[in-house]
Amino acid sequence: MDTNRKAGTAGGLEGVVVADTRLSEVDGELGRLIVAGRDVEQLGGEVSFEEVAALLWGGDAGATQAAMAEGRVLAFERLGRLGDALDRAEGMDALRAATAHLSADEFGTPARITGAVATFAAAWARGRAGAAPVAPDPSLGHAADYLRMSTGAAAPEHFAAGLDAYLVTVVDHGMNASTFVARVVASTGSDMVSAVVAAIGALKGPLHGGAPGPVLDMLDAIGDPARAAAWIEGELDAGRRIMGMGHRIYRVRDPRAAVLEKATGRLSQAGVSSGRLELARAVERAAEGALRAKHPDRPLRANVEFYTAVLLDTIGLDRAAFTPTFAVGRTAGWSAHVEEQRATGRLIRPASRYVGPMPEA
Ligand code: COA
Repeated sequence: MDTNRKAGTAGGLEGVVVADTRLSEVDGELGRLIVAGRDVEQLGGEVSFEEVAALLWGGDAGATQAAMAEGRVLAFERLGRLGDALDRAEGMDALRAATAHLSADEFGTPARITGAVATFAAAWARGRAGAAPVAPDPSLGHAADYLRMSTGAAAPEHFAAGLDAYLVTVVDHGMNASTFVARVVASTGSDMVSAVVAAIGALKGPLHGGAPGPVLDMLDAIGDPARAAAWIEGELDAGRRIMGMGHRIYRVRDPRAAVLEKATGRLSQAGVSSGRLELARAVERAAEGALRAKHPDRPLRANVEFYTAVLLDTIGLDRAAFTPTFAVGRTAGWSAHVEEQRATGRLIRPASRYVGPMPEA
């Protein structure tokens, strides 16, 4: 077997090992995600974002919370000097442009850059709503403060807990596309800010982090569980993909879908509901059945984005802010990978297969 390829992976480029990491591991056959030595089910809804960040970065959760809050505060002081970065209609464009303004001297640590991305994502959401940005409150946890800065009102405790569960669940996920991008940039000896800006660009695409908004659009279009099967069939007949379904690595249901479904269920038990959880479950069942019939040899099950949409909607975030909120969580993972890659001092330089014409003799 090619020792540079993980066992059980197909041909093509999937499974090519580009780094050793102690940060996270995805087992697509078993549907298992390990983050810093713990199963994702032991993390999402169980520990705070600061605690999981401390596991990834090293250090204790209290110091991590203070350093991240400092990042939020310093980034807020920069808001007046970002040009038109936060005026972009698309949240990920705004986040990329705003983050690119930062100096790596000041924001080159995982905690600072993670704090900054939250401040920028929240300020963009406020601007989109025609409201002024809200200053960070360093005494709050990251999730509660991000929600407060985004919506303009103190977040009820269970809303903040729901967001905390989300941020923890998406914090890291093996060598996904945006993390790979971040590591490639870091491997050249470039800086933390450049690596995170590049990763934001990669996360934006609908095949990676751009799906949860469209999942909510789909739920709205279906509206009633009774219409789910026919709607899904219509989409597949038209040759379109069902958002929130399928994954490059998982051959079973994405374990994060269960964690986020459970977090949404907890909110519902606490009396907070967007009314979409039951609809989402019915749509998932219909989509799974239709995809199984169409692709009997290729399991296509719900991925993380499916219940991301329902959870973030339930806690009052606008669908346009879903992918930026994904970036708020994933920046902690990206920055941990940047540090880990840097420590190796090794340039990532993959190869391509030339299929063009050969020069004439
Ligand atoms: N809806 C309908 N068909 C899908 C599908 C989906 N969500 N996901 C995959 N398929 C189909 C493909 O069209 C392909 O069909 P074909 O062989 O007839 O061309 C087949 O299943 C195999 O898919 P493949 O191209 O090998 O999947 P992939 O590994 O490249 O794609 C995703 C993985 C995530 C990009 C893909 O499942 C997708 O586009 N999902 C929707 C977007 C989404 O939810 N993104 C968030 C990912 S976390």
